Amino acid sequence: MNKKTIKTKVAMNKESVVNKETVFEGKPNKEETVNNKDKPNKEENVPKEKIISIKNLIKTYDQGGIVALDGIDLEIRRGEFVSLMGPSGSGKSTLLNILGALDQADEGSVNVAGFDLTEERDFSSFRSQEIGFIFQLHNLIPNLTVSENVQIPMLQTETSDDEMVQRATDLLKSVNLQNRLDQIPTKLSGGERQRVAIARALVNHPSIILADEPTGALDSKTGDIILKLLREIHRKENVTLILVTHEEYVARMADRTINLLDGKIS
Ligand SMILES: Nc1ncnc2c1ncn2[C@@H]1O[C@H](COP(=O)(O)OP(=O)(O)O)[C@@H](O)[C@H]1O
Ligand SMILES: [Mg+2]
Repeated sequence: MNKKTIKTKVAMNKESVVNKETVFEGKPNKEETVNNKDKPNKEENVPKEKIISIKNLIKTYDQGGIVALDGIDLEIRRGEFVSLMGPSGSGKSTLLNILGALDQADEGSVNVAGFDLTEERDFSSFRSQEIGFIFQLHNLIPNLTVSENVQIPMLQTETSDDEMVQRATDLLKSVNLQNRLDQIPTKLSGGERQRVAIARALVNHPSIILADEPTGALDSKTGDIILKLLREIHRKENVTLILVTHEEYVARMADRTINLLDGKIS
């Protein structure tokens, strides 16, 4: 019943707002039981497995006229918190989009969470299982309630209606929005909307969170709250976090900073 209602409302929006990030048309997701408790413990003093491995990644636009990424080599280990910095146009968003299979490399190898993203295939189930996206603009669906927006990534999973509602409620509680479950997004402040987007990104227990300037549209105080929340989630959930930021102090919170300049790691 619930799934059907949300799907109908989503369909009404299909032309305007629905995009790859919010709706996944893939195969059923992994079971709810396959979640964080099966993942390696961040605190264990063992070498952590590589979750991202990129070699000589090249990405161009306009038939090669624009070189957005120019030979990137990068390895990231499971559970790392990496900040990604660089001037506008340096390729940060392009790199995140390729890591999340929203875009594809021209050349090179891209392995993320055991998936070869250079293969020609549908990566929607990869996205829904492994990746949580958080963008500068939250991309919430305006005619769905806060709770329904958070449930969207679970639509294609085998999660029952009751479980979907419960998971959304729990996550929204964890981002302090328990009183806003049935509100529509336009009634929320920018910071509140971004917290909904964070809850939505976490809903399928992703192994990687890709956050592209998540505080870029917020005032600094609200931005700080969002960053603290992301840092907390990183600690608690043992999730790999890649965060694009322009703020040095944010970068200092991370385990490591990667600087991009003209499509190269500098
Ligand atoms: N869809 C696109 N079509 C053409 N050029 C693009 C496209 N997306 C990005 N670019 C170009 O690729 C380069 C890197 O862009 P981007 O990854 O968005 O940088 P950043 O996120 O660091 O600001 C820029 O020169 C940008 O203009
Ligand atoms: Mg960008």
